[in-house]
Amino acid sequence: MKLETANHNGKAATLAQASEAAGPERSLKALAVVGLGYWGPNWIRNFYTLRCARRLIACDLSAERLAHVKGLYPSLELTQKFDDVLRDPEIEGVVIATPVSTHYRLAKQCLEADKAVVVEKPLATSRAEAAELVRLARLRDRVLMAGHTFEYSAPVIKLRELITSGEIGEVLYISSVRANLGLFQHDVNVAWDLATHDISIILMLLGQMPESVSCQGQSHFRREVEDVALITLHLPRNVIAFVHVSWLDPNKIRRTTIVGSRRMLVYDDTALQEKIRVYDRGVTMRPYYDNYGEFQYAYRYGDIHIPRIEEVEPIKRECEHFVDCIRNNLTPATDGLNGLRVVAVLEAAQRSLRSGGAAVPLGEMR
Ligand SMILES: NC(=O)c1ccc[n+]([C@@H]2O[C@H](COP(=O)([O-])OP(=O)(O)OC[C@H]3O[C@@H](n4cnc5c(N)ncnc54)[C@H](O)[C@@H]3O)[C@@H](O)[C@H]2O)c1
Repeated sequence: MKLETANHNGKAATLAQASEAAGPERSLKALAVVGLGYWGPNWIRNFYTLRCARRLIACDLSAERLAHVKGLYPSLELTQKFDDVLRDPEIEGVVIATPVSTHYRLAKQCLEADKAVVVEKPLATSRAEAAELVRLARLRDRVLMAGHTFEYSAPVIKLRELITSGEIGEVLYISSVRANLGLFQHDVNVAWDLATHDISIILMLLGQMPESVSCQGQSHFRREVEDVALITLHLPRNVIAFVHVSWLDPNKIRRTTIVGSRRMLVYDDTALQEKIRVYDRGVTMRPYYDNYGEFQYAYRYGDIHIPRIEEVEPIKRECEHFVDCIRNNLTPATDGLNGLRVVAVLEAAQRSLRSGGAAVPLGEMR
């Protein structure tokens, strides 16, 4: 099934359209970031430097974390109480960068308080919760955005261009590896933590939902918190995608290989430059061959091309896009439905994992 954008208000935005639509910029009255652990301070840094709002409020249960960010950004306002964020009438948008198990509860409260909200990945811990957030955002006519950072990254946008332009032919399969040593999460397994990125990238690149998902994994340190997993997405027209994620790998690997019928792409996000390589390689099917030598000729080894990519910090684009969507009442490129789709795939993977790797059908998505 082809993926559509679900509007909360009838106006869908692509990334480019949203930026163009911004027009004369209205400074927001106030924005808040909830959760200032490892990731939240990146939102603060970007909002701060982009001067998106007249007031910037940081909220965390930990006084220590609040003191830390205040040291970096002296004009920040601080609170340990999430209720202060909900009750402040000037706060137009809230970033939820807290542990995954809290996303649904906090995001729901923001929408009920009529605030736009961007929720870090994954949107929620179940399809039902994610669907409820989508419903609520529509009902309250508020911006709901999923923090799928990689959909805002220049290399991933370039990959999509290379695929949709027909440059690589028909996509045959995708293989994605995201592995490193740590950072173990306490409330979700490695699939909900790391594979969220790969799944959002794959759905964006192919513009289609898988028909079914299977997953195998193992927990070596904490019961039922898998630290290594292999997810298989079975897509229409025999396209298959493998996602291997691990918190137990000696190397940091962020590599996606996309094999097309004409060319092949390798995207290495750990490379400092030249993150994408286009291989003019493929296999030409021959109706018959008489000897092994001829069989070899069926493979094509052409040039390798490295496209130029102008890199911008993805979270900077995310910040700008969130603010554009609030200002102009637009539906984000990674809207609630986009977040729901990724959660649906993760939930299917989780069910498969618990049933020994059996393929779990996705069903209709609305
Ligand atoms: N987009 C990305 O590339 C990316 C990268 C890393 C993490 N993340 C996401 O960011 C989120 C946070 O991850 P992290 O690694 O920073 O976690 P973390 O554990 O380092 O930080 C979470 C912070 O939230 C605070 N917190 C918890 N409950 C709260 C509440 N009710 N009110 C206010 N503060 C609360 C904690 O005190 C802590 O400081 C997760 O959803 C994670 O998946 C996204």
